[in-house]
Amino acid sequence: MNISNIADGTYHLSINVENILFEGFWEIPNGVSLNSYIIQGEKTAIIDGVCGWDGVPDTLLALIEQLNINPETIEYLIVNHMEPDHSGWIGAFKEINPDCKIICSKKARDLLEAFYGMTENITVVGDNDTLDLGGGHVLNFVEIPNVHWPDTIATFDTLTGTLFSCDCFGSFGKIGSTIYADELTPEELIVYENDTVRYYSNVLAYFSPQVKRAVTKCQALPIIMIAPGHGLIYRNPSEIMNAYSDYADYQKGPARRELTLIWGSMYGMTQTAVEYAINILKDEDIIVHVHQVPETSWGTVLTSAWTSTGIILAMPTYEFKMFPPMAAMLEELGKKKVNNRKAFRFGSYGWSGGAQRDLEEIMTRLAMGWEFIEPVEFVGNPRQEDLEHVGEQVRKLVEEVKSVFNS
Ligand SMILES: Cc1cc2nc3c(=O)[nH]c(=O)nc-3n(C[C@H](O)[C@H](O)[C@H](O)COP(=O)(O)O)c2cc1C
Ligand SMILES: [Fe+2]
Ligand SMILES: [Fe+2]
Repeated sequence: MNISNIADGTYHLSINVENILFEGFWEIPNGVSLNSYIIQGEKTAIIDGVCGWDGVPDTLLALIEQLNINPETIEYLIVNHMEPDHSGWIGAFKEINPDCKIICSKKARDLLEAFYGMTENITVVGDNDTLDLGGGHVLNFVEIPNVHWPDTIATFDTLTGTLFSCDCFGSFGKIGSTIYADELTPEELIVYENDTVRYYSNVLAYFSPQVKRAVTKCQALPIIMIAPGHGLIYRNPSEIMNAYSDYADYQKGPARRELTLIWGSMYGMTQTAVEYAINILKDEDIIVHVHQVPETSWGTVLTSAWTSTGIILAMPTYEFKMFPPMAAMLEELGKKKVNNRKAFRFGSYGWSGGAQRDLEEIMTRLAMGWEFIEPVEFVGNPRQEDLEHVGEQVRKLVEEVKSVFNS
C-alpha cells in the first residue's frame, strides 16, 4: 500500500499484486502495481479505483481514509477503462457512496451495465469534454480507443499537466521504494524496462496501431507528468511516450538488434544442435535470448520475440507436425502479430518429417511474413556435418540481422 502526493491536490494510491496470472494467463515474475489517483479541487474525483485481485475493496478504502478523505464526499468516479483490474471496486464503492457520479466513455457505459448492472448517474465523455473540479483543476478527456479495450480514455489535468493514462504507458513490476521512474538506479531501470516491454508485449501488443495513434495524440498535449494505471510515474513523459512508440513499431519489424532462440526437444536430439548453436552465438556480437518450450511461459518468450529482429526456431517432428508446444507458441506470436522477422529453423525427425511443413502452414495462415533462410533437418541425432550446417546457418542469420542495423 502506498500513498503519495504527486502534484497540487493530487494523490497516487497503489497496491502491489503478486503470485497471480495477469488476465488469467500471463506470468508476472516481478508482480504488478494497481494505481488509483485522487484529485482534490473544490470537488474531489477518484480515477480508476483499484482493489485487490481477490476483489476485496478494503485496501483502497483504507488508503482513502489515510488521506482523511471521507469516501462519501468523493463526487466523481472517473473510469478510464472498465477492465476489472481497474473497475472491480466500483460496486463496493457505490454502496458506500451511491450519489457518486461516474464519468466514462460511451463504450464503458455499456460495460458498466453488462458487468455490474449499473445504469444510473453516469455521464458519458469523449474528446473535447471537460470536467471542472474547481481550484483550477480542469480535466480534459482524451479518447484512446483500443488501448487495449474499446472503452479506454485518458484524463488530463490541465492545472498540473498530469496525464492519467490508465493502461497506456503502463508496466509490470511492483512499486518499491520510489514511485518515480527517474529515481530508479541504472540496474533497477534495466529490470523495470524489461517489465515494461513484458507488459506491452503481453497486454497491449495486438493493438499496436491503436497504441501508436494514442501515443501521437498524447504527444500533442502539454504533459508534465504521466501517471499510469500500472507501474511508475514518469516526470520525463517524452521518454515513455517514445519508448511506447518504438514498442508499437516492433510489431511489423524490424525490432532491436537482438535474436531469440526458441527451442523444444523430446529426447535431446534437437537439443544437441541447440547447444551447438548457442556456442556459436556466444561469439557473436549480438544480444541473444534463449527460451525452451514448454518450460518457459508464453509471456517470457513473447517479451523476447517482441524486441528481436531475428528468431531461431529449433524443434523436432511430432506426429507428422511440429513439436506441439512450439506450434502453440508460434500461434501466439502470430496472433500478437510479431511480424516480418528474419528467421531460421532446424530440428530432428525420425521417419516422415512434418515439422517444416507445419511451420510453413502456420506462417502462411497467420501471414507472419517471416523471412526464413534455408532450414536444416536431420534424422535422429545430428552428425558432425549437420551441426556444422546449423552453425553456418546461424552465422548467416546473425549477419542478416546485423545488416538491418548497418544500412
Ligand atoms: C510421440 C512422438 C511422435 C513422433 N512423430 C514423428 C513423426 O510423425 N514423424 C517423424 O518423422 N518423426 C516422429 N517422431 C520422431 C522424432 O521426431 C525423432 O525421434 C526426433 O529425433 C526427436 O528429436 P528430439 O530428441 O529433439 O525430440 C516422433 C517421436 C515421438 C516421441
Ligand atoms: Fe486493461
Ligand atoms: Fe489495467
